[in-house]
Amino acid sequence: MKAPESNAVLTVYYDGACPVCSREIALYRRQPGADACAWVDASSCDGIALGPDLDAPTALARMHVRRADGSLVGGARAFITLWQSMPRTRLLGRLAAIPPLPWLLEAGYRTFLAVRPLWRARSPSADSPVTPALRAELRSDHAGETGAVCIYRGILAVTRVEAVRAFALRHLGTEQSHLEQIETWLPPQQRSRLLPAWRLAGWLTGAIPALFGARAVFGTIESVETFVDRHYAQQLDLIDALPPDPTRAELRAVLLACQTDELAHRDEAAMLGGREPPSGLLKLWCAIVGSGSAAAVTLARRL
Ligand SMILES: [Fe+2]
Ligand SMILES: [Fe+2]
Repeated sequence: MKAPESNAVLTVYYDGACPVCSREIALYRRQPGADACAWVDASSCDGIALGPDLDAPTALARMHVRRADGSLVGGARAFITLWQSMPRTRLLGRLAAIPPLPWLLEAGYRTFLAVRPLWRARSPSADSPVTPALRAELRSDHAGETGAVCIYRGILAVTRVEAVRAFALRHLGTEQSHLEQIETWLPPQQRSRLLPAWRLAGWLTGAIPALFGARAVFGTIESVETFVDRHYAQQLDLIDALPPDPTRAELRAVLLACQTDELAHRDEAAMLGGREPPSGLLKLWCAIVGSGSAAAVTLARRL
């Protein structure tokens, strides 16, 4: 059996489902000379397009190219062959072919292949309705709801005031349900890498005011929920600015329900905290909690 007939000087087999590989191939395809090559996406083509000596798992595992004479090369040698075939990268391809560079490039390529699954898991496809910006917000929501659960655990670990315990137990249940809902939208590999820090920060944000009494706890919750309300409102605006999409509409409903709960938490804390103006120390603490929450959201969007 022969390789499929082609007039191309080179046939390039790549994994179009990999965001890194497809971005790199898109760069090559914009170069002069790209028209002389045939570009075969191994993630969506049929077996005939690959030829008898290349199966889909092998083509998806490593890049391959087929020369005009039908010979097949894979890995770093495939890149070198591709570079040599295009005018802009021809010199690079010739230099890269000088030993021991092919061996070094192959070692680098194998290292990339070893870490590629992690990269791929964190990179949603470009046409996903949950855009990268939305995914970053969801990461910060997940971090925030994780922290919120720990705030109430921190309060419950310290306070013996019955009214505060009843308040914390009620809210703990709601925050746990928020966390579970956000988790359905954010796979584990896309969650914040700093979750242990958010758990500790949340626990301290609940435990410290609980040492000072009910007024401090309610003031802290009012301040946290005021911030969280704005954070969810920004995300609703972000979704509203995007083209209509059923998946995003579903996500919007989840975020709106969370925001509604947070507003009720804020109002309940304000009501239970009483009408007396907060002390200077409580005001300072709430300012620290507010700026700490903002810094945490900024970090959790990225990490
Ligand atoms: Fe929440
Ligand atoms: Fe809440």
